[in-house]
Amino acid sequence: MKIKVLTIFPEMLKAALSESIVGRALEAGRFEVELIDIRAYSENKHKNTDDYPFGGGAGMVMLPQPIVDACEKNASGRERRIYLSPRGRTLTQRIVEELAREEELMLLCGRYEGVDERALELCFPEELSIGDYVLTGGELAALVVIDAVARLLPGVLGSNDSAEDESFTTGLLEYPQYTRPREFRGREVPEVLLNGNHALIARWRREQALKLTHRKRPDLLKGAPLDKKDRAFLDSLES
Ligand code: ADE
Repeated sequence: MKIKVLTIFPEMLKAALSESIVGRALEAGRFEVELIDIRAYSENKHKNTDDYPFGGGAGMVMLPQPIVDACEKNASGRERRIYLSPRGRTLTQRIVEELAREEELMLLCGRYEGVDERALELCFPEELSIGDYVLTGGELAALVVIDAVARLLPGVLGSNDSAEDESFTTGLLEYPQYTRPREFRGREVPEVLLNGNHALIARWRREQALKLTHRKRPDLLKGAPLDKKDRAFLDSLES
């Protein structure tokens, strides 16, 4: 997977992409990120990337020329192009899974009050939001997309199944986890986790996941694959 990111703040992404799991995966060549500085494509004497909005109003609008040139000069023609924007459809784990199957992505980070609509019409047909709130720019949103996609790529997470048993893949919130010590400030680790009975542990974890989801995100239960035992357990919670 190759991800190209168009931004006027490449340093903002560089820092975040150099650390932790994503940093190691990039270093190991599990995937590639290319940061493309939109400013370098400005034909303007002062290398401007924005101007006042026609029709008036607050703030500045990103010029179409640097964005369209940055896009066209770096496009392979195979990439899925996405503009990060609060007006896009909201990112979900399902969309992340879909993006992780692409060969190439090109992400556009907007700034200021927006991007000239013609740049979007010409180059970025798809829009994606990371939630119903407004950021100062698309850079943090692009990082969210890259992080969520990267951890689904082969060889990025340490153990192969660590992306399988978790929230939004099982359709349920994750069960609680414990590590050493067995007792901390008077609170004991649940006995079932200490006895080595893997079938019992799996059942306990499943029930904890059901209980947490029922309490905190009951809306998720509608879409989660549940068997007879799960339904019986949920019924016992209701009564
Ligand atoms: N740019 C500004 N706000 C955003 C959001 N919520 N999602 C994606 N891109 C954005």
